[in-house]
Amino acid sequence: MEITRLVDTYLSWPKQALLSINEWGKYRVEGDFDEILITGMGGSGIVGDYVQVLSASKGATPVYVNKSHLIPSFVSEKTLVIIVSYSGNTIESIKALERALKTRGKVVTVSSGGALKDISTRHGLLHVQVPPGLLPRASLPAMLYAILGLLDSSGITIVSKDEALESVAFLEKTTPSCIEIGEEIASWLFEMIRENRLFVIATHSPYDPLAIRGKNEFNENSKLVAKVDIAPEWMHNDIVGYEFPVPSKFAVLEILDPADSVGAKLVEFMDRVYRLLDAQVYRLELKGSTLLERLVYGSLVLGLASVYLGVKRGVDPATTKSIAMYKSEASKIFSS
Ligand code: PA5
Repeated sequence: MEITRLVDTYLSWPKQALLSINEWGKYRVEGDFDEILITGMGGSGIVGDYVQVLSASKGATPVYVNKSHLIPSFVSEKTLVIIVSYSGNTIESIKALERALKTRGKVVTVSSGGALKDISTRHGLLHVQVPPGLLPRASLPAMLYAILGLLDSSGITIVSKDEALESVAFLEKTTPSCIEIGEEIASWLFEMIRENRLFVIATHSPYDPLAIRGKNEFNENSKLVAKVDIAPEWMHNDIVGYEFPVPSKFAVLEILDPADSVGAKLVEFMDRVYRLLDAQVYRLELKGSTLLERLVYGSLVLGLASVYLGVKRGVDPATTKSIAMYKSEASKIFSS
């Protein structure tokens, strides 16, 4: 995929989200569920983490996230199991689907096609179609809004259609600033890499999935190793590693929600520790009036920054050779 096409895919996130929102009500499941299990890997699995924090913030149905070929043993007829794989061909997700079919859980699949779609047709499962031809990680809004729509239409409201539409209008309005900040982060990080600094993304709960998503984006689009630090858990383990760290030079991207006074103070505390180690710090303040808006805003900034950084480093952001290498061997690993 050409780089300009990849950048355009990120820049068209508002349109991508709208396509899924236009299908709100098309997909629904009947049932009274005690919990939701979302299973998927990489750029698809992270969607489960986003739905989980959104649900937790609203006190809605508990959402469990599974990033494995295994299925937790709690799955029962009271569990809605959502298997999400953008390609539909990821072995762990196919294995999880096969295992889910052996439980009494209600199973729904989300993909752009592939084996997940075929298996769903064979077993008469509800299959949520997302647009094909994109990279999984660049399809975050398509999968996220499709799942939020499926849940709302099934009587499990985490995000209403109006809230979803408002978040898209917000994303559209803030896209120019996402580009600007994304470019700034990429230039800063490019210099940091030259100084051989280890890249750290630091944040506070509930932005855990945003930091992990950011790490994944820099791994895949920029081919960069990154560490994630999340407060307040960070204060109970990672902090000790920083007493005598190897390597000892850090570039820290601090992400905080300025409206969350406790979160901001936690990041201030982390900042003091990083600065004692002469770390270089870039601070990203999240914009948006809802958690959904802040998550999509942060995701777009980090996605763009990771692509711009990949370009500066002379790597191809779109190609993930090592994942392809793993996938070509994975069926042998899971066949035993
Ligand atoms: O973003 C990516 O390309 C990867 O992280 C993929 O999402 C991951 O390998 C799983 O593939 P899929 O999303 O098609 O299930």
